Amino acid sequence: MAGETETTMEKPSPSLPLAGRVAIVTGGSRGIGRAITVHLQSLGAKVVINYASNSNQADLLVSELNSAANSSPPVAIAVRVDVSNPDQVKTLFDRAEEEFGCQAHILVNCAGVLNPKYPTVANTTVADWDMMLNEIISADHFNSSSYPIFLSFNSIPFHSNMAESIAAPAPQPQPITQSLLLPLQDRVAIVTGGSRGIGRAISLHLASLGAKIVINYSSNSSEADLVASLINTNNSSSAGNPRAITIKADVSDPAQVKSLFDAAKSAFNSQPHILVNSAGVLDPKYPTLFDTTLEEFDRTFSVNTRGAFLCFKEASNRLKRGGGGRIICLSSSIVGALRPGYGAYAGSKAAVEAMVKILAKELKGTGITANCVAPGPIATEMFFAGKTEEMVRRVVDECPLSRLGESKDVAPVVGFLASDAGEWVNGQVVRVNGGYV
Ligand SMILES: NC(=O)c1ccc[n+]([C@@H]2O[C@H](COP(=O)([O-])OP(=O)(O)OC[C@H]3O[C@@H](n4cnc5c(N)ncnc54)[C@H](OP(=O)(O)O)[C@@H]3O)[C@@H](O)[C@H]2O)c1
Repeated sequence: MAGETETTMEKPSPSLPLAGRVAIVTGGSRGIGRAITVHLQSLGAKVVINYASNSNQADLLVSELNSAANSSPPVAIAVRVDVSNPDQVKTLFDRAEEEFGCQAHILVNCAGVLNPKYPTVANTTVADWDMMLNEIISADHFNSSSYPIFLSFNSIPFHSNMAESIAAPAPQPQPITQSLLLPLQDRVAIVTGGSRGIGRAISLHLASLGAKIVINYSSNSSEADLVASLINTNNSSSAGNPRAITIKADVSDPAQVKSLFDAAKSAFNSQPHILVNSAGVLDPKYPTLFDTTLEEFDRTFSVNTRGAFLCFKEASNRLKRGGGGRIICLSSSIVGALRPGYGAYAGSKAAVEAMVKILAKELKGTGITANCVAPGPIATEMFFAGKTEEMVRRVVDECPLSRLGESKDVAPVVGFLASDAGEWVNGQVVRVNGGYV
């Protein structure tokens, strides 16, 4: 199977994902920055907490993190610098290197200000304007042995009327618990097109996070059975019941989509929490729009758009309400890239993205979120079908990371959106493409 690398079931990693990495969090002593600092440290990173003026909060957080980690040397330091000053920014990176003995891997640039007078543009003073434009960070300071990660927050609003939300308990250092390792423990997830390609990686990943999986396919039962057996061999439940089943259903047929949800409920005796709609088709002739046949146009829209609609409809009525309900649909970064030869396919996915954004609003009050994950080129059978080596090489050349995506690059993003931690991402299209678009 082209591009497929996963032959075994993932296990939760015994080592923390950021172990041995150094993260600098500007504005890391309070608000969102503080929560990020605490979270990155809980994932194993050593953290450099930058602050501008309030040393009390920064020092308190450093001492909480170091005493929770109970290790020597320390896992956290605080560094006072103004991020709008180039020399001070350099000092921040120097201090990280001195303290932890290596270049930083991760920068989260969270420092920001907002003028609480909310002036119009006409009334904004030059001094206020200058203060807003204060983020100056250089890539030269980063560890080159692995990818540096930059995250930037546009602004951190602060206003005296926000006392209520500020009074909410600040995130505290937490030990890694079973609920963090298995965030989907015993939730039922339906993965359409879960037998091959990206859907297969998603099935395996959600199972590794503790979910029970309904693997849907349309024709190729042996691939679906293989995924189910990988999950069941590694993970039988206490009563010996399987943790994964396979269900044949064509997502473009309303009766078959209904039976898919019926089968999920009766197999696991529980309403599903999660629908991942990964079933999809692409015309491997890559015709121009004017050369696309009506049959191929109808087939593309029938599976990709009608299929998504039918799954959304069924999921909206049948997923668990009141928390943890998730609808995640695979769209495509081609909706942003708009390459010739993908007219019908991009159109079929653009419609899905529009529907998801509206669906998220319509599901208000249910606790069910709806999002699209839009991969760029991913090495699966669908990607390679009909492409010459030259076409593949051109795609790789276009990617800033100089490689094709793999289905394992996509699955963890779906896993995050499916978890409780992903709740605040709702009505969004998350592009996962290595910078291709
Ligand atoms: N690969 C990429 O570069 C890429 C990029 C962006 C977005 N995507 C999207 O990601 C999703 C997965 O793509 P992929 O590359 O993993 O595709 P793939 O390797 O071709 O796998 C397609 C899966 O969908 C199932 N399927 C097809 N038609 C179906 C139908 N009518 N009803 C139910 N299941 C059906 C297939 O089942 P059978 O095995 O039974 O045929 C298979 O499990 C698709 O929505 C695709 O559009 C892919």
